[in-house]
Amino acid sequence: MSVALFIITIIAAYLLGSIPSSVWYGIGYFGIDVRKHGSGNAGATNTFRVLGKRAGTIVMLIDVLKGWTATCLASLLFYMSVIGETELLLFKILFGVIAIFGHIFPVFVGFKGGKGIATLLGMVLAIHPELAAVCITIFILTLLASHYVSLSSILSTLAFPVLSWVGMFGHPEPLLVVFGFIMFVLVVLTHQKNIVRLLRGNENRVNIFPKTNR
Ligand code: G3P
Repeated sequence: MSVALFIITIIAAYLLGSIPSSVWYGIGYFGIDVRKHGSGNAGATNTFRVLGKRAGTIVMLIDVLKGWTATCLASLLFYMSVIGETELLLFKILFGVIAIFGHIFPVFVGFKGGKGIATLLGMVLAIHPELAAVCITIFILTLLASHYVSLSSILSTLAFPVLSWVGMFGHPEPLLVVFGFIMFVLVVLTHQKNIVRLLRGNENRVNIFPKTNR
């Protein structure tokens, strides 16, 4: 693989991740900047909170798609025979992480983005759909029990390396386990304020079945 192609794909993954869906959709459709309301986070959860379930769902799907598409750039390189099967997982992880980095530090809106959860989900869906399904289940069950999106995000992210490690889906893949734990640390870092609020008992709870039409 040439250096030029490597740099182009890295930039493409970063720009994909950088698309500030919550900010652009909120300002473009509602004239509202989600960063100035609710938790102030430029992510799907805050979009749900500030702009309603339809906007939140659209933003979440776009953010998942960003991670999925960036990760699939590696599959594209594989089908073009630019990289081999042994490098495929490494490149998927690399492009996915770059997209998550772009989501957290987006070039288009002053490097102040979201917390990376939906984009991480898109990446895990592209790498290991069965594992992603279990993590989504853990997220939903935690959310139903606690009404805290942040806690659900943190626990479902932790489930990813732990379940990979215990070999839930066959022989553990060391690269996935290490990557999963690094992602967990990243998610803890992006959720520092949420963790403080959780410990103090004043974290935002979500209304899981809002009655608004938006
Ligand atoms: O994925 C973000 C979520 O875990 C927390 O978002 O807006 O409640 O800080 P928020």
